[in-house]
Amino acid sequence: MSAVSQKQLAAEAALEYVEDGMIVGLGSGSTAALFVKALGQRIAAGDLSIKGIPTSRETEEVARESGVPLIPIEQADRIDIAIDGADEVDGRFRLIKGGGGCLLREKIIADAADRMIVLVDETKLVARLGAFPLPVEVDPFGWTITAKKVFDALRAVGIARPVVDIRRKQRDSLDPFITDGGHYILDCACGEIPDADAAGIALSIVPGVVDHGLFLDQARVVIVGEDDGVKILEL
Ligand code: 5RP
Repeated sequence: MSAVSQKQLAAEAALEYVEDGMIVGLGSGSTAALFVKALGQRIAAGDLSIKGIPTSRETEEVARESGVPLIPIEQADRIDIAIDGADEVDGRFRLIKGGGGCLLREKIIADAADRMIVLVDETKLVARLGAFPLPVEVDPFGWTITAKKVFDALRAVGIARPVVDIRRKQRDSLDPFITDGGHYILDCACGEIPDADAAGIALSIVPGVVDHGLFLDQARVVIVGEDDGVKILEL
């Protein structure tokens, strides 16, 4: 079974966690999009009434096309659940996110939610975070200096040879990728992150860093799509 089919199974299983009247944070990326589409079908069938808050313009578009009602985040005094994908998940439910470049809004919403539910195919489960390059969102002003400081910060927490690259719009373009918030992304190939808590703190205090893709204390449920169904892991 392909990763896409596993993502689809995880997305459908996540509907079990959505209750009538909830405010739902809608994640970004291909798995979250499958969930938003499945949610739209439930709403169209008249089974469910919820309000969604999207974590990206892309998700906002998918939600509108799928008939999922949205509210601006400023109108929500609380968020019941956030449902999102991830690039890596370790055994302690710690994540790397931001492969799609939406990590800042994803983190704001995941952190505000009573519960974050993560949807992945089984290739995303890792023993230790770091094989996926860690996205770090930075202000464009002085980004070359920020990139050197990010390199130093990663070295200081035990990553021997980090490679810090600015994300481009396309593979052979010189134009930087720009997030919905108007920032750049530095993709930091670490190999392995020996101490994710220390890395998170070290990155957070670099001036110019807006946020990083380590989600260390947000996920409470991980739904893993497998070949013959889903595995549900709960903290
Ligand atoms: C976007 C993200 C995504 O959740 C992550 O990249 C996983 O994407 P996909 O579901 O397409 O595999 O963090 O910023």
